[in-house]
Amino acid sequence: MKKIHFKTINSTNTYIKENYKDLPNFTCVSSAHQSQGHGRYNRNWESNNNENLMFSILIKNKKLIEKFPSISLAIATCILKLLTSYKIKNISIKWPNDVYVNDKKICGILLEGIANECLIIGVGLNVNQTNFSKEIEDKTTSMINIKNKKTSIFLLKNKLYKLILKELNKIEFDDKSYLEIVRNNNYLKDKEVFASINNKQELVKVIDVNEDNS
Ligand code: BTN
Repeated sequence: MKKIHFKTINSTNTYIKENYKDLPNFTCVSSAHQSQGHGRYNRNWESNNNENLMFSILIKNKKLIEKFPSISLAIATCILKLLTSYKIKNISIKWPNDVYVNDKKICGILLEGIANECLIIGVGLNVNQTNFSKEIEDKTTSMINIKNKKTSIFLLKNKLYKLILKELNKIEFDDKSYLEIVRNNNYLKDKEVFASINNKQELVKVIDVNEDNS
């Protein structure tokens, strides 16, 4: 399996988008720094140089591309397992693609695709960064802020890559056991959120995550 690491790049997701034709299935691209790291809705993804884990995995396998609705939540459960193995507690999964610890975001997942050709799973996990910008500092955390000690980003990357490959293999064969983990650690459970119902935004109480990941 191919792994590529950059000292700096615009975005690991963008790199894969521009090069997927020449890269094998499950290529992992990481970078110590991103000049244009982005999240959902094209929001900026903040990270100091060499302090956090930022990586993307390319999926070219057609059977898995079809399973894209399962992927964000399934990857979130890999992050939960990874953080648990570092003895971090109070982890929850915020549908559809964030991981929280103690009510603060520690990880974001960005799934991007090129129709029927590939999927790109981008993961940003806050590891050794202690200070975040004013806009996000109240709602953001990192492993060092929780554990008070540094963690090897290299080791984390390798462990997470293995966990993700294992989970993708399960998804390919329709094993949905990740849903149980999501349901048991659902950040939004019993919270009120706005949802679009008959084209109207209504305040609803979250009960659970459905079988189809909605
Ligand atoms: C989000 O919370 O909206 C998702 C954030 C995803 C950030 C990661 S960092 C690695 C990869 N490259 C990017 O530009 N974004 C993802």
